[in-house]
Amino acid sequence: MSEEKKITKVPVYTPDKSYKDFRWMGDYEKIYRESVENPEKFWEGIAKELDWEKKWDNVLEWNYPDAKWFSGAKLNITCNCLDRHVNNSRKNKVALIWRGDDGSERIFTYRQLYREVMRFANGLKKLGIKKGDRICFYMPFVPEHIISILACARIGAVHTIVYAGFGAESLHQRIVNSESKLVITADVSIRRGKRIDLKSIVDEAIVNAPSVERVIVYRRTKPDIELYTEMELDYYELIKDEKPHCDPEIMDAEDPLFILYTSGTTGAPKGILHTCAGYMLGSYYSTKYVFDIKESDVHWCTADPGWITGHSYVVYGPLQAGATILFTETTPDYPDPGVWWEIVEEFGVTILYTAPTAIRMFMKFGSEWPDKYNLESLRVLGSVGEPLNPEAFEWFYRVIGKEKLPIVDTWWQTETGMHMITTLVGEPMKPGFVGKPLPGVVADVVDKTGNPVPPETAGRLVIKTPWPSMMRGIWGSREIYEKYWSEINGYYTVGDMAVKDKDGYIMIIGRADDVIIVAGHNIGTAEVESALVAHEAVAEAAVIGVPDPLKGNLIKAFLILRNGYSGSEKLANELKYHVRMTLGPISMPAEINFMETLPKTRSGKIMRRVLKAQDMGVDPGDLSTMED
Ligand code: WTA
Repeated sequence: MSEEKKITKVPVYTPDKSYKDFRWMGDYEKIYRESVENPEKFWEGIAKELDWEKKWDNVLEWNYPDAKWFSGAKLNITCNCLDRHVNNSRKNKVALIWRGDDGSERIFTYRQLYREVMRFANGLKKLGIKKGDRICFYMPFVPEHIISILACARIGAVHTIVYAGFGAESLHQRIVNSESKLVITADVSIRRGKRIDLKSIVDEAIVNAPSVERVIVYRRTKPDIELYTEMELDYYELIKDEKPHCDPEIMDAEDPLFILYTSGTTGAPKGILHTCAGYMLGSYYSTKYVFDIKESDVHWCTADPGWITGHSYVVYGPLQAGATILFTETTPDYPDPGVWWEIVEEFGVTILYTAPTAIRMFMKFGSEWPDKYNLESLRVLGSVGEPLNPEAFEWFYRVIGKEKLPIVDTWWQTETGMHMITTLVGEPMKPGFVGKPLPGVVADVVDKTGNPVPPETAGRLVIKTPWPSMMRGIWGSREIYEKYWSEINGYYTVGDMAVKDKDGYIMIIGRADDVIIVAGHNIGTAEVESALVAHEAVAEAAVIGVPDPLKGNLIKAFLILRNGYSGSEKLANELKYHVRMTLGPISMPAEINFMETLPKTRSGKIMRRVLKAQDMGVDPGDLSTMED
């Protein structure tokens, strides 16, 4: 699978010298070397920065492919997010600033956030929720989302957050697979001045989901929607008499903290399992050292808490660091395309962490929008989710960073729990490259037998050794978990193709498997295909991702219809709508093509790469396994 990949010469940028406070400036190579020579010492050093109920007996027990980190330790992650700040000078410091779609604001100090979390934690206990029970979240961008996540962790329940853009079928699958006892949702989500009904999607998703005992509904709007009182409860009704203190459930290091579903190469989403101690460490370490975060920072990660980025860098990382988090309902273009920059100026945002698809959208709107605002508070910019192409990097660097701010293009995954590869603040940046592995992370680009490929040769990205916030399993599937660690020489196989340059900087080329990244969201081809064939008109379906300047990729579907149906624009629209309703808008194909046949291998597998090559007008490569 390795092939030569000519790297066109790229400029190298070093952030402004006036940027003095680099934690690792000049020391990266030394720290990195020490971290991989003695990983246990390295990670233990980080762990000592946090509060523990009881310290560990061992840093790492590695029993391939299973890791136990900090075994013997006792902890609760919320003690590091809340108690430790409330018990010192950060008590009255702002923990959370929320800005609504209509410009309204809500502000919580650490003390206030603590009290709200504890009240909700007590409410959950009152409902009989216990350590290890799963709670499914289907929530909009509101403070109650963050509060209820922390409350869940406080009592040792396992959260499984589902992005509220997913459709009823996707939500149903996740509720059933995780056997959630409780669903926490809201009446509506508000986006661009419009109300999007969430509650009716939950109603549909919990049909035939026997694990669900209760649904808690946060009422975002008036008039109050009706609740079915046998089963449904109002969020504030639940906590109205609850006390603002709740002792933390003391967790073992390897107790589950959360399950988060991600798209895989099979039709069913994979429930990635993260555990308490390792995830706590990884989210803290990366937030602190990659963003160079300080307690004076106003950290704005624009991701939804329903993605791993939201878990680690909206909620857990910045709160452990004692920073102020900004959380908004705001979309990038409403009420106008300047709204994000207005927010940066208004709240003095210092760290802005977003996605290439948003940056490319801002490029399209034009520099005049950010230029209207004072962006001087910013000191670190970040990107995640898909390759930050050089044009988008340059724009971000010039127009937002004023040619002096560091951009951390962070490569990582739901499975890794934390940033793994990035150019650290203060190190020279190369547009198009994510950079080098973080200290403690042993990443490499290899061929299919595991040998490192020479520089400027494309290969597979692998992680060679365990790290604290690695996933511990797939909920309900040992086999899929083992596959990650067994495909290439016992390394953790990422699923991405990458290339290194002569200085060891890594460029991510894209997925090597059947996952399409659309606007930063991972979508499994198999999920979309099975949604399509569930429609009565469709006999067979194949979907591919094709490059799109704004969203990175778009989904194109190729279909064979059942007898008695014929392709028409009306049917194409109906099928798009069908996918939208089952999986949600992000999975909706942009284009549908009706076919007589699909290219297949002799064993009957659809050859998506052939469709893709035909679609893009390039050579489809080896066709020897194709049937006539
Ligand atoms: C891709 C998101 C290029 C990659 C945190 C990875 C990236 C998948 C980058 C994981 C980046 C993530 N540059 N590609 N900086 N960050 N990816 O699980 O293909 O939603 O495997 O986690 O996104 O997506 P996930």
